[in-house]
Amino acid sequence: MIQSSLTMKSSTQTHLDLFRLSCLRNPVTDEAITEFQMRILTFYERHGRHDMLWRHTDDPYRILVSEIMLQQTQVERVAVKYLEFIAAFPDFAALARAPQCDVIAVWQGMGYNRRAIALKKCAEKIVNDYGGMVPRDPEVLAIFPGIGPATASSICAFAFNLPVVFIETNIRRVFIHFFFPDAETVTDKEVLPLVERALDRENPRVWYWALMDLGAELKKSVPNPNRKSTAYTKQAPFEGSDRRIRGMILKMLVGQHQLSEKKILELVNEDPERVRRILTGLEKERFLRKGRTGYQLAE
Ligand code: ADE
Repeated sequence: MIQSSLTMKSSTQTHLDLFRLSCLRNPVTDEAITEFQMRILTFYERHGRHDMLWRHTDDPYRILVSEIMLQQTQVERVAVKYLEFIAAFPDFAALARAPQCDVIAVWQGMGYNRRAIALKKCAEKIVNDYGGMVPRDPEVLAIFPGIGPATASSICAFAFNLPVVFIETNIRRVFIHFFFPDAETVTDKEVLPLVERALDRENPRVWYWALMDLGAELKKSVPNPNRKSTAYTKQAPFEGSDRRIRGMILKMLVGQHQLSEKKILELVNEDPERVRRILTGLEKERFLRKGRTGYQLAE
């Protein structure tokens, strides 16, 4: 088990808190940056999540799959699904040629099913337009389906060890915690220069793993520093959401030839008008196809 160095009143915590206070001086000195780097790497050595499978590969396919999975799903759940997904679709070519309904079937349990379709579209693009190779440029990758600027950069850092400068939720949390303890609001524009200065250009891969792990740890132990961020948005509640109903419908169609609208309405057991609207949306997004006797997952 990973020891929580920040939830416990340990010497590590005292260490990090003291250091945080020393960062209050503005502008942040080079010495503070060096000290910060040392503390982050020491934290990683002692408490990093070294067992994550996607940290034991630099295969761009596996990195891309894991980064898309990690966008909105907890590490523990990704750990299981990642293995299943890689076994079912071992490379870009296999994913590109797989029927979409098979990809949706394997994705079940992850939530946010749009990512499964995006992942398959990425594979098609990489096979058809890039000769099977992931482009090593975050600006190019950022316009791929389901890959925004942060995921594009994390793929470049973890697959190619490129010294890209980027912010995602855990990284943001670390910088705000240490460098902006008294600020009311913090913008990414203020955080980014510090990310650039602190970046370990010799080994960006390990550096970003370390920041992400400390960010995840801080989330458990201190009031979320990201609430100060102008980029902060809370995930909408799942209970009672359209997202939950969409997920339910896709799940019930996995492995089925077709289900009639009547049967779907009965199984979902929510306002029929709402469910019909959701069905139409799923059809428009090409998750579903309407057949002779009902709905089915699109191929
Ligand atoms: N390790 C590699 N990528 C990661 C991510 N996106 N989140 C947490 N840990 C990771």
